[in-house]
Amino acid sequence: MTAPGGMRRRQLLTAGLAGLALVDAAPTAALAQACAATDSLRRLAAQKGLVYGTTIAAWQILHDPPFIRLVEQQAGLVVPENDMKWQDINRGRPGDDDYSRADAVAGFAVESGMALRGHNLLWYFRTPPWFFTLPDRKAKEGAVIAHITALAGRYRGIVHSWDVVNEPIEPRDGRPDGLRKAVFLEALGPGYLDLAYRLAHETDPAAKLVVNEYNVELDAPEHETRRVVLLELLQRMRQSGTPVDAVGIQAHLHAVGGPPFAADRFRRFLADIAALGLTIEITELDVSDEEAPADIARRDRLVADTYRRFLDVALDEPAVKVVVTWGLSDRHSWIVRHETDRSRWRKDGLPSRPLPFDAELRPKPAFAAIAEAFAHAPARTPG
Ligand code: XIL
Repeated sequence: MTAPGGMRRRQLLTAGLAGLALVDAAPTAALAQACAATDSLRRLAAQKGLVYGTTIAAWQILHDPPFIRLVEQQAGLVVPENDMKWQDINRGRPGDDDYSRADAVAGFAVESGMALRGHNLLWYFRTPPWFFTLPDRKAKEGAVIAHITALAGRYRGIVHSWDVVNEPIEPRDGRPDGLRKAVFLEALGPGYLDLAYRLAHETDPAAKLVVNEYNVELDAPEHETRRVVLLELLQRMRQSGTPVDAVGIQAHLHAVGGPPFAADRFRRFLADIAALGLTIEITELDVSDEEAPADIARRDRLVADTYRRFLDVALDEPAVKVVVTWGLSDRHSWIVRHETDRSRWRKDGLPSRPLPFDAELRPKPAFAAIAEAFAHAPARTPG
């Protein structure tokens, strides 16, 4: 099979894994048993026209075969948690790029017959430090164009959907248009969005182009403002002919602490997005238990209930086509690794349990809650 992007698919995988030692890929007996007893989220989602996916990392493909086996069993889509971010690809100087980890994830998706999300082409938060030191607007525009062309071009024809600009809004920055006052806006003005989406479309016409955002699901003034501002941005993009296909809703939820889920408003928000002719992807779903009680049974129940309440509303909207959890097992989660805001970390030091499978790859109540939500979801046309 030849990847339309020019790289042969086998080459992609081989290139990504080259030079790295493969470890024994045999599943443990315990895992095989757990898998046999567990239905697959991939299958339950597919029955409703949905795609279920999760994050992976290149190093996991090489060094955690039991986890990867679980991914293969459960997911119909993968997204590199970090391996495609600009700062993770670039090794410190303009043009000095290392795609081996990104290639490994893309190659794995192709070889396993899974869809691949591209995350992401531009994110203010993961931009190489040298970009900030470029002398002028022309140089910065050139670097953005070179990066998008190279990254989207490398995986052309393979990527299901690209987060072209990650987290473009920040109403608290005080601009009337609600756009985030960060590196790309400051370097190129608000037109950077149009530039990025047009270029992504020209480079990989088959990929769905996504605006990926967070904090749009709760009953809090900040979330309400973000819903309004995001809808306005999408309307402007539609009116000006900027190629955008979908909205990514990250949905990093909390089982305890913070404002409640705004079920009715969120439902309306999803309908408003759909009315613009856009589809919706839940792109980074996880449920933090950082402020939940220590007792594991209670904690797991609160986490599961949070997944269920959210998905019941989200999946009622037929424009929602994809659900991605930000990890599959508590073994690999940014929450467990304490990469979230320090103020949120568990005070008792116990490990967090935010994902559908525990650290030993056993299904948890969160798994059952997601499975039930898929089973009860109305069927839709696949996106
Ligand atoms: C996070 C990763 O999970 C961490 O490993 C990393 O340290 C920081 O980024 N929104 C996004 C994701 O769009 O890329 C972030 O991923 C989580 C928040």
